[in-house]
Amino acid sequence: MSPIPPLPFLLLFLLVSAISAASHEDATRRTMEEFSGYPIHSHPSVLSLSPSSLSVDAVGLQRQIDELAAFSDTPKPSVTRILYSEKDVLARSYIKSLMKEAALSVREDAVGNIFGRWNGYEAGLPAVATGSHIDAIPFSGKYDGVVGVLGALEAINTLKRSNFQPRRSLEVIMFTSEEPTRFGISCLGSRLLAGSEAATDALKQAVDGQNISFFDAAKSAGYNICQEDLPNVSLTKESYSAFLELHIEQGPILEEEGVSIGIVTAIAAPASIKVDFEGNGGHAGAVLMPARNDAGLAAAELALAVEKHVLASGSIDTVGTVGILELHPGAINSIPSRSHLEIDTRDIDEKRRNTVIEKIQHSASKIATDRGVKLSQFTVVNQDPPALCDESIIDAMEAASRQLNLSHKLMISRAYHDSLFMARISPMGMIFIPCYKGYSHKPEEYASMEDIANGVKVLALTLAKLSLD
Ligand SMILES: *[C@@H]1O[C@H](CO)[C@@H](O)[C@H](O)[C@H]1NC(C)=O
Ligand SMILES: *[C@@H]1O[C@H](CO)[C@@H](O)[C@H](O)[C@H]1NC(C)=O
Ligand SMILES: *[C@@H]1O[C@H](CO)[C@@H](O)[C@H](O)[C@H]1NC(C)=O
Ligand SMILES: [Zn+2]
Repeated sequence: MSPIPPLPFLLLFLLVSAISAASHEDATRRTMEEFSGYPIHSHPSVLSLSPSSLSVDAVGLQRQIDELAAFSDTPKPSVTRILYSEKDVLARSYIKSLMKEAALSVREDAVGNIFGRWNGYEAGLPAVATGSHIDAIPFSGKYDGVVGVLGALEAINTLKRSNFQPRRSLEVIMFTSEEPTRFGISCLGSRLLAGSEAATDALKQAVDGQNISFFDAAKSAGYNICQEDLPNVSLTKESYSAFLELHIEQGPILEEEGVSIGIVTAIAAPASIKVDFEGNGGHAGAVLMPARNDAGLAAAELALAVEKHVLASGSIDTVGTVGILELHPGAINSIPSRSHLEIDTRDIDEKRRNTVIEKIQHSASKIATDRGVKLSQFTVVNQDPPALCDESIIDAMEAASRQLNLSHKLMISRAYHDSLFMARISPMGMIFIPCYKGYSHKPEEYASMEDIANGVKVLALTLAKLSLD
């Protein structure tokens, strides 16, 4: 392999004079070819890549976003695309056909993670990957995830149009089932890529709302797999030197502040807790107050305790939500004999989040004792660690935004993404773009063509830089 100059030198060159550098190289190569009589393999690399030459086909990309949105089980503007459904299968072939049009080599793993690779001139090196998901929860929008898949393909096409040659291969990934809709497991594809044994185990028993097993559903979508195949999905830590995800912010900050690009520094990770209290119930008139052990009041008290413990962390990054609170039997004249709560708590600091969980557990036991009810379940599910984005990827994304003259700010992702799991096997970074009022997971979800094109440019330039590292 011919040695290439270190990156800072290349970037300096790039800033000074991209075009004359490129033509100078051409002249040298012609001379060398005449002299040797053999064609000299050249690596124009970043020297021929001037940020202002990156031309994103925003109209074409919007058309693809609209075409993909048509693969939906609910009428537009809503999108519903559930894992392994007929519409999901059609959407998958649409993505594969776009990958082939971009001349990428396409691979699909056992659960349907789809990979499209553009081979670099040092194809043996770990690749630089980027991607997101295209599944959509019922009645959601057309941008969540999709911008990071179709946008990644457009970033590749943009680099190809500018005659860039990657050193490390560049790979676009479409992850299977980021949303937990069908089998209750979020980021299914990326968890398996990261080698999660918990996910492998959970899938063995997983059934959907129609009591269809994960394996039967996969089979109906053309993925004929069994339990033994699941561990094969995992990738080694040598697969990628970097992973990037472009995504709509799903929050209001960028739009409110008029900033074009959000550079993510960390992804908060959720832990969810399931709690059940049991009491004796009884007639709402006949059982007097001192004789009661009301499972509903225990739940109410715990919900307030969640808020108290979260606020006591003193950090704005700690959040907790009781999104489900069910009372049994649920009649006006009956004291609740059972209550069920589901609590979501997140933080970018795992230790702090786990402290909150411990305090919630302590409160649950104390409330049960004080009220004479039984704490029949306290289960922590999905206790995922948060992920920090890689410093050098953050630097590369910032440098790209600066070179493109795009306003940008550092921020935290409070929603989780496939990147959370890719961070277990690769240095990771995320690029956010503004979305209308921060709306997501509903039909009103919207990002402008201009904002999407800006995100694609930052992605393209960052991929280019990282591929030369
Ligand atoms: C950024 O702004 C500078 C100075 O105004 C300009 O020379 C450069 O071409 C701009 N870059 C892009 C990518 O538009
Ligand atoms: C779901 O399917 C399994 C296996 O076919 C069966 O044993 C079980 O009873 C079913 N459960 C329900 C709730 O229908
Ligand atoms: C997965 O790995 C197991 C054990 O190495 C092997 O028996 C099986 O054939 C593999 N499955 C696929 C789809 O490659
Ligand atoms: Zn998403």
